[in-house]
Amino acid sequence: MASKKILVTGGAGYIGAHTVVELYASGYLPVIIDNFSKSDRTLLQGIEKITGKSLVFYEGDCANKQFLKGVFQKEAKLEGVMHFAAYKSVGESVEHPVMYYRNNLDSLLTLLEVMKEQHVNNLIFSSSCTVYGEPDSIPVDEQAPFKKAESPYGATKQMCEQILEDAVKADQNLKVISLRYFNPIGAHPSAMLGELPIDKPNNLVPYITQTAAGVRKKLVIFGGDYATPDGTCIRDFIHIADLAAAHVKAIDKLLVEDKNKGYQYYNLGTGQGVSVLQLVKEFIEVTGVTLNYEIGPRRAGDVVKTYANPAKAHAQLGWSSQYTTKDALRDAWAWEKKNLNH
Ligand code: UD1
Repeated sequence: MASKKILVTGGAGYIGAHTVVELYASGYLPVIIDNFSKSDRTLLQGIEKITGKSLVFYEGDCANKQFLKGVFQKEAKLEGVMHFAAYKSVGESVEHPVMYYRNNLDSLLTLLEVMKEQHVNNLIFSSSCTVYGEPDSIPVDEQAPFKKAESPYGATKQMCEQILEDAVKADQNLKVISLRYFNPIGAHPSAMLGELPIDKPNNLVPYITQTAAGVRKKLVIFGGDYATPDGTCIRDFIHIADLAAAHVKAIDKLLVEDKNKGYQYYNLGTGQGVSVLQLVKEFIEVTGVTLNYEIGPRRAGDVVKTYANPAKAHAQLGWSSQYTTKDALRDAWAWEKKNLNH
């Protein structure tokens, strides 16, 4: 039987690339789109090494309707889409809000138009725990209200979810699952795939590994005086391979279920809160490397504590995280050591 084709926008990025590997492992045929605006070709090579497949890949911007339509026509028939292509740097979004709104909204809107025209009805959307802002209580479940976004990046995720909810309401054929990621970290256990920041990292773990590797002099922990047990922020760090596996569970579900489920959304986290300082200490423990770090001032806009209640994803997607934080840190370090050339 021919494999089911799934379009993966942003498939050369960190989360997209790991998900492509899982799609292949589960018998799907991923069709990748990427414009390399925030990624590079290295991860595509990593996917090829791990899977032994030669990739189906199109270079282009999914906000370009002609381009996108061409891919849908050429690859007919696509069974579904996973939409990862988006900008994700909170700080950059504050400096360039219009660029963020333009890119993150345009690509989704264009995709929805083309999906409708081409009668492709299944969509998995990359959302984020940022939609909840600073939650009133933790762990956060899916009933928690959206708070005013702290950044244009966060606002784009909230707006995209609103667009999707409205689109599902209006179109009886459209089926959508949004996955609200907590903090994805780590790398593929083979060390052939991982996070490869362009310029400087956006997130904590690449800062840790780059500092340990000597690429950066020092890691600054942003704030040591929060109302948490050790004074540093608390997050739910989830292994990237676990996150990728959840996407496959989500598309499996969409492809078999009825059309009348409405707009669906799930938290993806481990359910464990881990502080930034704890993570740093775990990194030192599992790798045995020395890490030059210090506690510095708070970073504007940081949520103090958040971690997921992933019960809904357990129950309805049949998914739960398998790896520990330590596994993720060990894998991130193995990947960093292979990529000391950045
Ligand atoms: C943020 C977003 C998240 C988004 C992600 C994408 C919020 C609340 N969260 O996650 O939704 O998907 O970015 O990029 O908007 N830290 C340091 N030193 C560093 C770097 C980070 O101490 O050099 C700390 C941060 O202050 C934070 C934690 O590490 O407490 C995690 O930071 P980061 O990896 O940037 O992710 P979030 O801000 O949690």
